Amino acid sequence: MGDKVLVTGSAGFIGSNLAEALCKKDYNVLGIDCFTDYYPRKLKEQNLSNLKSEKNFEFLETNLVDCDISKLLDGVSTIYHEAAQPGVRYSWDHVQVYIDNNIIATQRLLEAARKNKQKIVFASSSSVYGDVKELPVKESTELNPISPYGVTKVTCEDLLKIYNEAHGIPSAILRYFTVYGPRQRPDMAINIFSNKIMNGEAFELYGDGSQSRDFTYVDDIVAGTISAGESSKEFETYNIGGGSTITVKGLIDKIGEIVGKEPNYKCVGEQKGDVKHTHADITKAKNDLGYSPKTKTAEGLQNYINFIKG
Ligand SMILES: NC(=O)c1ccc[n+]([C@@H]2O[C@H](COP(=O)([O-])OP(=O)(O)OC[C@H]3O[C@@H](n4cnc5c(N)ncnc54)[C@H](O)[C@@H]3O)[C@@H](O)[C@H]2O)c1
Repeated sequence: MGDKVLVTGSAGFIGSNLAEALCKKDYNVLGIDCFTDYYPRKLKEQNLSNLKSEKNFEFLETNLVDCDISKLLDGVSTIYHEAAQPGVRYSWDHVQVYIDNNIIATQRLLEAARKNKQKIVFASSSSVYGDVKELPVKESTELNPISPYGVTKVTCEDLLKIYNEAHGIPSAILRYFTVYGPRQRPDMAINIFSNKIMNGEAFELYGDGSQSRDFTYVDDIVAGTISAGESSKEFETYNIGGGSTITVKGLIDKIGEIVGKEPNYKCVGEQKGDVKHTHADITKAKNDLGYSPKTKTAEGLQNYINFIKG
């Protein structure tokens, strides 16, 4: 059996996929999650169902905001910190939840890691950039978040930086670009569009559909995340994107093609905090981590639709 690693947020979309991949690589995985009520607990329990049969997986229901984290870190070599309150739009009216589950949870984790200086691989977000002038965006671009969610991710990144400088805690900050694939959160666009189109239901599209996104298939995110955990680099920040972009309208059309139904939607106003375009420059992750996204959008969407159909 390999090293012991901690995956926070392991009942979530990305955390559960990551924990499975780490188990397959023979790591001894401790997963923790507190089942926040952002979406139904039942879905998160389903996310954990494959992991139950893994001999090298252990799960603990606990909250990073108030548990004794030092106990969780016993024997742990690397921390994959996926737990957070995600979602740009929800963040306007629920700032305290973001402060607690993003900033406070990360600061408590860092404080506990001071003793043994485990590496922290942190799930940051393209939302730290806001609306940028030059695309594809590089890691060196000035951060200019336009949502409370993005602000909390920037603060977490700053915390990781100062704990590295002051206490020598190594970390890899990974700025994920919109992730999709099996178990995608129910609030995310691809999940909503796919279900609506499959069921022949009408839906609303925020904006005019010309906004574009760098969508990243979850297996690629997981591969990049594990490479960052295994890298010997002391403190680095990486964009982890899908390698191409598509407009939201183009995405809807593609889902319609796969499902074999005409999408029925109407465009409504843009949402505050939504950026116009995202596109990651992934050169740094390619060079340092050998990161190379493998799943093209059409293939990833097909896999996802197959997953929903069950
Ligand atoms: N999904 C994306 O497109 C995307 C994009 C950029 C960044 N991210 C980041 O990736 C990470 C995972 O996102 P996801 O989409 O899998 O979200 P998710 O909501 O499915 O998973 C997060 C999990 O963390 C748990 N959690 C939250 N606060 C906790 C706490 N205080 N203690 C213990 N557990 C807690 C939740 O219960 C949840 O199961 C998050 O940090 C998110 O901000 C996601």
